Amino acid sequence: MSNSRTDRFSEKIVKIAPSGIRKFFDLVIGRDDIISLGVGEPDFPTPWVMREEAYYHLEQGHTSYTSNWGIQELRDEIAKYLTRYDLHYNSQDEVLVTIGVSEGIDAALRAILNPGDEIIICEPCYVSYQPLADLCDTKLIHLDTSKTGFYPTAEAIEKVITPKTKALMLCSPSNPTGRMIPVAELEKIAKVVKKHEIWVLTDEVYCELVYEDHKHTSIASFPGMKDYSIVLNGFSKAFAMTGWRIGFMTGPADLMDQVHKLHQYSAICAPIMSQYAALEGLKNGWKEVERMRVSYQQRRNLMYKAFINMGLPTIEPEGAFYIFPDIRKTGLTSEEFATELIEKYQVAVVPGSVFGQAGEGFIRCCYATDIIKIKEALNRMAKMVSELTK
Ligand SMILES: Cc1ncc(COP(=O)(O)O)c(C=O)c1O
Repeated sequence: MSNSRTDRFSEKIVKIAPSGIRKFFDLVIGRDDIISLGVGEPDFPTPWVMREEAYYHLEQGHTSYTSNWGIQELRDEIAKYLTRYDLHYNSQDEVLVTIGVSEGIDAALRAILNPGDEIIICEPCYVSYQPLADLCDTKLIHLDTSKTGFYPTAEAIEKVITPKTKALMLCSPSNPTGRMIPVAELEKIAKVVKKHEIWVLTDEVYCELVYEDHKHTSIASFPGMKDYSIVLNGFSKAFAMTGWRIGFMTGPADLMDQVHKLHQYSAICAPIMSQYAALEGLKNGWKEVERMRVSYQQRRNLMYKAFINMGLPTIEPEGAFYIFPDIRKTGLTSEEFATELIEKYQVAVVPGSVFGQAGEGFIRCCYATDIIKIKEALNRMAKMVSELTK
C-alpha cells in the first residue's frame, strides 16, 4: 500500500465494530448444508401486486428523483395508515419517506444529539442503535432489560435519567426478543418521557407482525406524546421489502425540518420504484401481509414448543419473527453455543451478546424460514442441548 498515513480514516469510524450478525451470515454463504435461522428477513418475496406496480412505473420510465420528502400520495397514504394506531401526522411536513428504517434511525439521532448528551438504549436491542448513537459523540446508557422480561420498565428508565439525558430508544415488538412492551408499561414510560422532556425514538418496524390477541400500541399515541416522539417504521418486514430500501419516519414539524435537511443531503430521496410499490402495498397489499403474519405465527408456535421441550427457558414472543431462548444451562456462552451449533450441527443462529451485554446467555433464532428446515434445525439443536446437558 502506497498511502502510509496513519490517520487516513475517521477515528470515530475505526472504533466502530462491524455488526456481529454479519460475522455469522458470512459463515453461511455458499454452505448449502447449513440451515440458517440467522438472517432477520422475511422468506417471502414482496407481494405480487407491489412488484407489478413497480414494473409498471419502470416500464413507463418513471425513474427520476422524487420530492425529498417522498411522493405526496405515498405520504398521504402513510398518514392515513398511521391513524389505525391513533397517530395523527400532517402528510405535508410531518411524514418523511426514508431509505428504510435504518436511514431514519441515523437521521433522527443526528438531528437531536449533541456531543455529551446521553441516550438510553434498552438492551438487548437491534444492532444499529449503539454504533449510530456513538457516531454522534453521545454517551450511551445501557439499560439491561433481561431481568424484567426483556422490556424496559418506566421505573428502570427513570432511574438512569440524568440532566444530560436527551433521548430514549425503544423497539416494540423487539428485535431480538420478539417481546412487546405492555400497554400499561408504555403509558408509564410516556409519563416519564414527558416529565423529563426527553425524546423517545420508537422503532415500530415489526408493528404489523404481532400474534394472537396482541395489538400494537405506539408510545406516540398517548396524550401529549407527539411532541416528544419520533416514530420509525417501514416496509421491510411486514411487506417483505427488505431489498427495496424503503421506510418512513414521523415527528413534530420542527424536528422533521431538521431531519429533512440531513435526508436531503445524504439520501435525496428513497428509490422511486420502491415508493410506488409501497404505495400499492398500503392500498392493496394487506391480504398478503395477513397471510405472511399467520404463517410466522405458526412457525413461532412450533419453535416455542420445541425450546420448552428442550428444557431451555424461553419467553413466548408476542411479535416480530424472532425467539430468544436461554441457553445458560448448557454451560456455554452465547458465542460458544452459536459457534458449536454451526460447526458441529450446521445450524446458524445469532449469539444474544451481539445485541448488547444483556443478551449474553441467549441466542436469537429467526423463524422466517421454511418450516421443514426449522423442524430439522430444531432436531439438531435438541441433540446438541441434550449432549451438553446430560
Ligand atoms: C428493529 C429493527 N429496526 C430497523 C431495522 C432495519 O430496517 P430497514 O430494512 O427498514 O432499514 C431492522 C432490520 O432488521 C430491525 O430489526
